Amino acid sequence: MSPISSVSEAINAISAVVFLFGMAGSIQVVQVSSFLLRPFSERLLVRINSSLVGTVWKVMQHIFEKRQKARITYSGDIIPQNESAIVISNHRSWTDFYLLHSVAIRRNMLSNCKYFVKDSIKWLPFFGWGMWLADFLFVRRDWMRDQRKIEATFSNIKRLKTPVWIMSFAEGTRFTHQKLKESQVYAAQQGYSIMHNVLLPRTRGFVTCVNVFRGSHVQYVYGNLGEFNVAPDMIRVHVRELGDEYEFHVNVKRIAINELPNDDEQLANWLRQRYVEKDQFLSKLCHGWTKNLDEKVWEEN
Ligand SMILES: *[C@@H]1O[C@H](CO)[C@@H](O)[C@H](O)[C@H]1NC(C)=O
Ligand SMILES: *[C@@H]1O[C@H](CO)[C@@H](O)[C@H](O)[C@H]1NC(C)=O
Repeated sequence: MSPISSVSEAINAISAVVFLFGMAGSIQVVQVSSFLLRPFSERLLVRINSSLVGTVWKVMQHIFEKRQKARITYSGDIIPQNESAIVISNHRSWTDFYLLHSVAIRRNMLSNCKYFVKDSIKWLPFFGWGMWLADFLFVRRDWMRDQRKIEATFSNIKRLKTPVWIMSFAEGTRFTHQKLKESQVYAAQQGYSIMHNVLLPRTRGFVTCVNVFRGSHVQYVYGNLGEFNVAPDMIRVHVRELGDEYEFHVNVKRIAINELPNDDEQLANWLRQRYVEKDQFLSKLCHGWTKNLDEKVWEEN
């Protein structure tokens, strides 16, 4: 079935885009004017920023969950309200963030999600500029240059004790079958486990994150977030109710940073091991989907 099958769906999609860009644009105006506050209170500015960004996310989440009636189920550890964390997730599609946000919105952290994003996204009208203003973590695969910027952003977060979910897609790129093959070849050369549903994670960013935040207000890692069998694309999300065609599942593990290995190499291995588990979990999901989950179902609210 093609993603858009009628004129009214096309109109729906176009109006959604116009609406979102319009809203992001007007919020931008307010955001830019918040620059004026900077000399007075940095922490207030951070709060204003993040609630503006959060408003856009909230509307998008409403469209996904309420209007398009996405069916989402949860399993794994209970996540407390308002808790800062480093969040690692797999990356299937542009629509992954809806699943991450479905957890964030239920834990009062939607405004505080900061993503690592590709540097070029900065130039995407309105959204990209908004992300830039909101201190998203832009990376361009040039570690030396990225590292300095990222550490500056992190040290601000620590200094102001900003509530934060650092969102990291550790695979570093979106999953495709081509990339999976390449990743499997590389894993075989390196002697790592061969996985079938996720790519081998890149460990350097994660290790840096954990090392930076040890002993700060960010005390947990949430692993395994965001699961997909077949992900809908962005257009599909906006044109028609998702209810019957898709089922979404989010599995979360909550791990205290002070229980992670101190040694960088061991920490990298620890991350790879999480992806091996995730891979097995996804294989389970493929055969029977959420019905055979032995883990306790996550309570709502
Ligand atoms: C979470 O933070 C909000 C303010 O953003 C506060 O009203 C609420 O009581 C907090 N919840 C918990 C469980 O700390
Ligand atoms: C908040 O926004 C200002 C500009 O409006 C930006 O300079 C600052 O880095 C942002 N900070 C955070 C934490 O979002």
